[in-house]
Amino acid sequence: RPDVVDSVAALRARISDWRRDGLRIALVPTMGALHDGHLSLIKIALERADRCVVSIFVNPTQFAPSEDLDKYPRQLARDLDMLATAKADLAFTPDVSEMYPAGFATRISVGGPSAGLETDFRPTFFDGVATVVAKLLLQAAPDVAIFGEKDYQQLCVVRQLCRDLDLPVEIIGAPTIRDAHGLAMSSRNVYLHEAELRIARQLNLILRKAAAALAAGAGQEETIADASRALIAAGFQKVDYVKARESLTLTPWRHDRAGRVLAAAWLGKTRLIDNVEVPTA
Ligand code: PAJ
Repeated sequence: RPDVVDSVAALRARISDWRRDGLRIALVPTMGALHDGHLSLIKIALERADRCVVSIFVNPTQFAPSEDLDKYPRQLARDLDMLATAKADLAFTPDVSEMYPAGFATRISVGGPSAGLETDFRPTFFDGVATVVAKLLLQAAPDVAIFGEKDYQQLCVVRQLCRDLDLPVEIIGAPTIRDAHGLAMSSRNVYLHEAELRIARQLNLILRKAAAALAAGAGQEETIADASRALIAAGFQKVDYVKARESLTLTPWRHDRAGRVLAAAWLGKTRLIDNVEVPTA
């Protein structure tokens, strides 16, 4: 198993030992309940650095009161076994009072790519993400940090955060890891029962069809409307959004630009998100 530290002081002591030895350090922030998607980030981290720190922290500030903070899967022992297999060097597992001691009163609010999409449905989500990611980057002071394209808007927000605050870290985006049927791995997939899983697996297929249609020149409004209808027909109860966005800025997509189709939809009490690239000729 990897070494485990749960205080910022102990984390910094380990990092400065490594720095003294001239080692390059990578950080992979997670909320635990690790799966192959997280492990793929660790693999990339170890290709780009000598040491990999994985933080495991279910961050309360990114959950709205109505969301699943209490239910969010927590399985530290299993996570540490997985980190051992993945050869991560250090797990950082702070508790809430270590990250947000009594009197904590700062929020980081990123503009730009946080507008729309997730923010229309989870208005305080990216403030919570940006606040905790800024803290983790300042605590671990890594050379590189790895984030998944699974949470594409989050990746864009983190890049904006680091650029705007001059955080001296390279942000790497990692491709989405999927099951054999195309379903993006997610800690929340444990909420899905068998019938819901079959529906969930349609999400990626429907987005890929929409992206292919857009690439082939189909009209944007009708393609998006078709994809929304297809999601409902597949069995999703509610579609929060299906949108085509410009890949780097997340502003509305135009045909001559690198694009991304992003979506969020509900299956019972579970909200799934996914996104795909608009293929270019
Ligand atoms: P979490 O959902 O645990 O995800 C941690 C990292 O793993 C994120 O960068 C996410 O994009 C990536 N990831 C999740 N599923 C993936 C998949 N199927 N393929 C590739 N990468 C995947 O995202 C968070 O935690 C939090 O918001 C966090 C950034 C840790 C801040 O609290």
